[in-house]
Order: sequence, then structure tokens, then C-alpha cells
Amino acid sequence: MSKFVIEGGAKLKGKVNIGGFKNAAVAIIPATLLCPGKCIIQNVPKINDVYVFEEILTELGAKVDLLEDMSLSIDASEVNDCYLKNGLSKKMRASYYLLGAGLGRFKKASTLLPGGCAIGTRPIDQHIKGFEALGATVNITSEGRINVQATKLVGTRIYLDVVSVGATINIMLAAIYAEGKTIIENAAKEPHIVDTANFLNSMGADVKGAGTDVIRINGVKELKGCTYKVIPDQIEAGTYMIAAAATKGDIIIDDIIPKHMEPVTAKLKEMGMGIEEYGDSMRIFYEKDLVPVNIQTLPYPGFPTDLQQPMTVLLSTLKGNSTVVEGVSEDRFRYVEELLKMGANIKYSKRQAKIKGITHLKGSVVQATDLRAGAALIIAGLIGDGLTEITEIQHIDRGYEKLENKFMNLGAKIKRVIDEE
Ligand code: UD1
Repeated sequence: MSKFVIEGGAKLKGKVNIGGFKNAAVAIIPATLLCPGKCIIQNVPKINDVYVFEEILTELGAKVDLLEDMSLSIDASEVNDCYLKNGLSKKMRASYYLLGAGLGRFKKASTLLPGGCAIGTRPIDQHIKGFEALGATVNITSEGRINVQATKLVGTRIYLDVVSVGATINIMLAAIYAEGKTIIENAAKEPHIVDTANFLNSMGADVKGAGTDVIRINGVKELKGCTYKVIPDQIEAGTYMIAAAATKGDIIIDDIIPKHMEPVTAKLKEMGMGIEEYGDSMRIFYEKDLVPVNIQTLPYPGFPTDLQQPMTVLLSTLKGNSTVVEGVSEDRFRYVEELLKMGANIKYSKRQAKIKGITHLKGSVVQATDLRAGAALIIAGLIGDGLTEITEIQHIDRGYEKLENKFMNLGAKIKRVIDEE
């Protein structure tokens, strides 16, 4: 097992390049199963969730190659079904996209129920509702295997009771070849939904309205291979923005779409950070004492739930009080226990944290309870007095590319230590 050891105190300075968006890549990669041809996916992040998908697609019979320019070539023409025998789907949440893609192309799919971060119950009832509305039957066995199948899929109108990124994308995938028109109402609007729709359209699909709350999919008869570049990771970029604010730093964040950062930019400006935006980069710099703000996470374009944890760390060291309300995930404050070990003064329930700012966090041994909690603890370590050790960092490796290298290049004192035990 590995851990990160961080010596706090360095102000971040320099430039960081942002990789491809994890949450888009983990939708686009399984979506290639819809196409009986070769797709080249560029700007794929080098993270464990992507490696697991490479394994899954290979297991299903696709030809997956990493090209010299680090793009991923996926040819699913020889894949005949989407029955995933092994438990790889339990390693991450996004494996649920195999159900939509398999249903769309083969009219059936079967996997073990998805895994992913422990941040509440995370039901997939809206995905199932969508599949059933298109004409599929869905059953979940007592061993936790989910089977979806249909004799034919027919487009229809589907209203999502919960604004769900996963359900919106999964229904899009399942409806690509359905007869007639599918309309998803109350759809999620996140940038990776637009990115997935753009990828599907590059293969010849007919998806309109992605990025609004009504998405229309006209079923097509065939898809063709294409080359497609994944958008930059707004959550990775947001993590570095918050780290710059917490360490009173001055950094350039490169290869981003500043528009996607607006919910974070707005809050950091409100706190007092200096931000200059350029075409595909931004400078974020500390110029005066930051003031606490209240945060409520919401579906896009609201403040992203995936940055709630890093933001809570930043707020915990600002003079004054603040409240963070979690409006998306059911139970995403468990990591606060780790911050309490570092001296933070936070009272929390499942959906809300009340923070009284303190002047210093103290370095401690803490555990990354999930992916974004891990990123938050890294920021806590960067500003904590003395040494912080973060264990269970496999969660962080699922979603952050070359994290310690990128932070080291910014001047942070962070190293990965392989535990002999
Ligand atoms: C995805 C992201 C995750 C992000 C989240 C919200 C991936 C692989 N993961 O997760 O990083 O934190 O979006 O932006 O892209 N819900 C239901 N029924 C459903 C689906 C969702 O009740 O069928 C509820 C659950 O409480 C869930 C919440 O809605 O926690 C958000 O769901 P959704 O937007 O689908 O997010 P995830 O797929 O869990």
C-alpha cells in the first residue's frame, strides 16, 4: 500500500496542465461499444478508472491499444455481447454505462452492480426507469448482478425524477439505435453530457439539446468509427484552483475551458482571490485576506459536489463562519472526521457542514475515504503545520493523473511512499 507524505507550508507557484475529464472519458470509452468500428479517443486521462475500462473492454472482446501520442484506440467490431462475467464493474461507478451501451447495440447487457465512492446510497433507479421506458426488462439478482434486455427499443418521452448525470448519459446510449425519437426531460446539463453527445454525433448519432434540460435523440441505423478529443477535467482544474487559494499561491492553470469553471471562479472571486481568464488558461492568485462564503452544491451550472470537499478544507482555515450544504450527494461529509483530527472546527450532518474557521490545521495521519475526499486532504496537508500522511490513496489514483508530480512542479512538498507492509 502507498501513502502520500506532505510537508505543509509551501505556497503554490508555477503552471499546471490539466488532463482530459475523467467523468467524460469514463462515459465515452464504454460508448465506443455502440460502434462496430474503430474509434480513436484523444486526451484520455492516465488514471485507474480508465485502466479498468481498458481491461473491461478487452475482456468483452474489443481491441484496445494505447497509441504513441497516448490516445486510446478502441475497435469493438468483434464484440458480440456485453455480458461482463467478472467483478471489474464493482471497481467504479461509471461501469453502469456498459448497461446503456450494451443495451443499445446488442439489446442486452449484464454486469455486477457498479461500485465507486462511498458517498451515500447512490441508487440507479432513474437509469432503470429510462431503460424500461425504451422497452427493456431489468432484473437484479440476489448476487447483485443486473441484467437488462429488450426485443426491441422504441423511442419515447422520459422525465427524470432526479437530475442525474449517469441516468441522462445512460439513456442517451441506450436510445442511439432505438426506433423513432427519445426525449429526455429534466436532463442533467454537465459539460461531460455535452461531450458524450458530441462524441456520439461524431460517430453518426443524432443527439440534440445536450447541455439543456431537454435532450432529443433520433434513432439511427448505424454508427461509424471516429477520432474524438475529450474535454479538459473541470474537477481537476478546480482542485488546483482551490489549492492555490488555500496556500496563498499564484498559479497558471493551462488547457482548460474557463466557462466550465464559472461556478468555482465565482465563489473564489467572492472570497477575494484574483483570477484572470485567457482563451484556454487562467491565472489564479492570492492578493488579500480571503473571506468565508456559503456554498451549496447543485447540478451544473451550480457549484459541483465533487469540489465540495476541497472547498470545505479551504473554508476551515478562513477567519469567520461558513455553511456548506450538499445538494447532490446523500452522504458526503464523512471525511470531515479526518479534518477534525487536523484540528478543524466543523459540525456536520449528512447534508450540511457548519464551519468555524481556525488559523492553522495541524499535520496528522489521515485516511482518504473516497476520491475527492483524498484531494481535499492533500490540500489540508499542503496548508497543515508539519507533516501529514494520507493513507488509502488508491481512491485518489482512480481519478487524478500524475497528482504528486503536478503538485511538486508547483512547489509542493509531497511524496508517494510505498509502505513495506
Ligand atoms: C456522477 C459523477 C460523480 C459526481 C456526480 C454528480 C461519474 C462517473 N460520476 O455520479 O463524480 O459526483 O455525477 O455530479 O460521472 N440518483 C438517484 N437515482 C438515480 C441516479 C441518481 O436517486 O438513478 C441521485 C443519487 O442520490 C445520486 C445523485 O442523484 O447520488 C447524483 O446522481 P448522478 O448525477 O447520476 O451522479 P453519479 O452517477 O452518482
